[in-house]
Amino acid sequence: MTELPPFDLRAWSARHLDAVEQALARWISPAGPGGLGEAMRYAVLDGGKRLRPLLVLAACDAVGGNPNAALRAACAVELIHAYSLVHDDMPCMDNDVLRRGKPTVHVKFGDATALLAGDALQALAFELLTPTDGSVPDAMQAVLCRLLARAAGHDGMAGGQAIDLASVGQPLSEAQLREMHRLKTGALLQGSVMMGAACQTDHGAAGALAEAALKEYGAAIGLAFQVVDDILDVTGDSATLGKTAGKDAAHDKPTYVSLLGLEASRAYAQALLGQARGALAACGLADTRALAALADAVVHRAS
Ligand code: IPE
Ligand code: IPE
Ligand code: MG
Ligand code: MG
Ligand code: MG
Repeated sequence: MTELPPFDLRAWSARHLDAVEQALARWISPAGPGGLGEAMRYAVLDGGKRLRPLLVLAACDAVGGNPNAALRAACAVELIHAYSLVHDDMPCMDNDVLRRGKPTVHVKFGDATALLAGDALQALAFELLTPTDGSVPDAMQAVLCRLLARAAGHDGMAGGQAIDLASVGQPLSEAQLREMHRLKTGALLQGSVMMGAACQTDHGAAGALAEAALKEYGAAIGLAFQVVDDILDVTGDSATLGKTAGKDAAHDKPTYVSLLGLEASRAYAQALLGQARGALAACGLADTRALAALADAVVHRAS
């Protein structure tokens, strides 16, 4: 096998993010009535690391998938993520006032508009996945919708958030905490990877092997992401994070840091990174450099 040149994640991300930002700005109309459009744009545009879109696009690149479908999937998953943040910050959940370096949506627009902006972002995500211009085959649209619905719903993000809220002040076992993190955060990250992979429909035996390996990769980085989020809540500052630091302990949330301590949590994130790399090594795809670099970025990030 020929050796691939070193990979520049920054340049690769900049190129892809340009397309994502333009598409998001185009697809989220400011015209939503009663301030809804403005609140939706405020929640999504100008901020965020865009990790989930990058995972969709990296997985699509790795499998040689349909770039049109991947751009739609990348934006759709970011809309679901942004909606989850709007609701997560509301007084009935984490009651946070700072997000992506700005006042949270409910602080700026009021609770009712924040609730509706989240609802409308969720609906728009599925609208983006179902274009009528023939650019994404119907069967692919259905698979993408199903993957996103599963990742966002009761057996994914929303279910994990329900466990999170029910667990305040409760001592969880490591298995229970892992399950909570797997659902509330891991499912959407893993779903991003699988949506990127689903932009290619050539399902040979090699495709099945790659799909299984990418699923494992997605599970490992999904969990690692939330372990690092728990760590940064303790070690980071609000200016760098763009959200209030130290709130997990203040709200008595069960986290990896509260369960294992900082050092063991860091070691666990590294072990998960090793799992993700191992899965990529076994996937049989020719070029997984973007996925590998994103896994590194998940574990070594400062915000
Ligand atoms: C924050 O996600 C919420 C969690 C799932 C822990 P990100 O850290 O990806 O937030 P943004 O998108 O960069 O703002
Ligand atoms: C939120 O987890 C995960 C979501 C589904 C939004 P957190 O509550 O830890 O996220 P932050 O720390 O507020 O971003
Ligand atoms: Mg929360
Ligand atoms: Mg929160
Ligand atoms: Mg957090």
